[in-house]
Amino acid sequence: MRLAGARSETLGATVAAGAGLKHTVTTRSADAHDIPALVALLNAAFAMERDFIDKDRTSVAEIERYMTTGTFFVVDGDDAVLVSCMYLERRGDRIYLGMLAVNPSRQGSGIGRQMIAAAERHAASLGCGAIDIRIVDRRTELPPFYRALGFVDNGTEPLVESKLTKPAHFIRMTKPVGHGR
Ligand SMILES: CC(C)(COP(=O)(O)OP(=O)(O)OC[C@H]1O[C@@H](n2cnc3c(N)ncnc32)[C@H](O)[C@@H]1OP(=O)(O)O)[C@@H](O)C(=O)NCCC(=O)NCCS
Repeated sequence: MRLAGARSETLGATVAAGAGLKHTVTTRSADAHDIPALVALLNAAFAMERDFIDKDRTSVAEIERYMTTGTFFVVDGDDAVLVSCMYLERRGDRIYLGMLAVNPSRQGSGIGRQMIAAAERHAASLGCGAIDIRIVDRRTELPPFYRALGFVDNGTEPLVESKLTKPAHFIRMTKPVGHGR
């Protein structure tokens, strides 16, 4: 289901960019024209997962499929390269957030934090009470990142993937938003 709501918004806070410049990032909903840039961003940002999955993170076909069930929100860069993206899908009164990525050259400057804040505002605007994510347990740096942003652990689930080269499973995490907070 595609999310209703604004096609773009300026994220609230002004953040320090990597070079010490101040900037504010703006999200917009992606369309089919963005698919090549989405694939490039996601495969670059998730390249470290080749340590345990012997394939690219995503493909044109997968992004096309996701666009039929939810919405990608993107942050444009100065050129055709995307700064950030995330996938949001309404599931009843909850929002599933996946494929959050910040361009490797821009990580650590507060953009990921702002993407989560934007996801929360969208969830609240739709009357959804929580955001759900799942992360691969091998990415041990991610739970502290999400916990720092208010997510709590919410169980595990199998990672069914024929290209796995090491044992791995998903950790589910959730964050209450709006009235669910
Ligand atoms: C994970 C990711 C989205 C984070 O985005 P980012 O823009 O680099 O993160 P931010 O700069 O917004 O950091 C947000 C906060 O998390 C903290 N943080 C970041 N990494 C952390 C870590 N490993 N442990 C603890 N806290 C961490 C930051 O210090 C920051 O807190 P602060 O604002 O109080 O300093 C980004 O690194 C990324 O794209 N990684 C590759 C793809 C990926 O793994 N996506 C998530 C899949 S579930």
